[in-house]
Amino acid sequence: MLEPSERAEIGIIGGSGLYSLEGIEDVREIKVHTPYGEPSDNLVLGSLGGRSVAFLPRHGRGHRIPPHRVNYRANVWALRSLGVSWVISVSAVGSLVEEYRPGDLVVPDQFIDMTKRREYTFFEGPRVAHVSMADPFCEHLRRELVNSAERLGYGAHGSGTYLCIEGPRFSTRAESRLWRSWGAHVIGMTLVPEVNLACEAQICYSVLALVTDYDVWSETPVTAEEVTTIMEKNTEKAKSVISDVVRRLPRSPDASLCGCCNSLSTAVI
Ligand code: ADE
Repeated sequence: MLEPSERAEIGIIGGSGLYSLEGIEDVREIKVHTPYGEPSDNLVLGSLGGRSVAFLPRHGRGHRIPPHRVNYRANVWALRSLGVSWVISVSAVGSLVEEYRPGDLVVPDQFIDMTKRREYTFFEGPRVAHVSMADPFCEHLRRELVNSAERLGYGAHGSGTYLCIEGPRFSTRAESRLWRSWGAHVIGMTLVPEVNLACEAQICYSVLALVTDYDVWSETPVTAEEVTTIMEKNTEKAKSVISDVVRRLPRSPDASLCGCCNSLSTAVI
């Protein structure tokens, strides 16, 4: 059994540009060992807006781990082992459509998986489970993220399809045009399998995607300098949204809010 000081209600996974969270009080740092190996970094536990949170930088502090080498299973397992029932994931993305501009916030409602060789499940056998991914994100958490972004005056695109590539390279122009023809809105390298694993762990999970650039389909690519400025501004926006949204989440999710905490009851096992 975990000590109360080693528990958290809400997990926050930081992406590129978001390696720490200001405003957390009563900060403790802990190392969590998991059956899947080491998480990306120590977890930072504390209190934010009166709620207990655990922060984990997905790429490790100093951005040491590329997207295809992140130990997603260890990260999700570590958060779950602390009792986390909500996970807010932050991710830098490129835009595949004109209307989603660099600097915008997006709360996707669907994804397309184009990754190639990652560890996608906790159910490696002999226990097998096929969870539904029809609606991969927690609808309640998604709505709260969009509402917080509105309240803070940033606005957010409240839907969109996130196409996840293997990376670490970016797409070719032909690929970028293909993703667009499939109806994807944003592109990144880290959503999968984080989202799958959160679902298997029956965690309410949603991603706050921060648009840093137009992907290479565009005739007007952004410069590296612009991307850096946009990243800095986006990171500040993400921090404000997170600190607003955490205080609005119910203490524990239940079936009247969403089906996430029951995802295994509807899985084919
Ligand atoms: N992350 C940020 N911008 C990206 C892009 N254009 N493609 C893939 N991942 C990204």
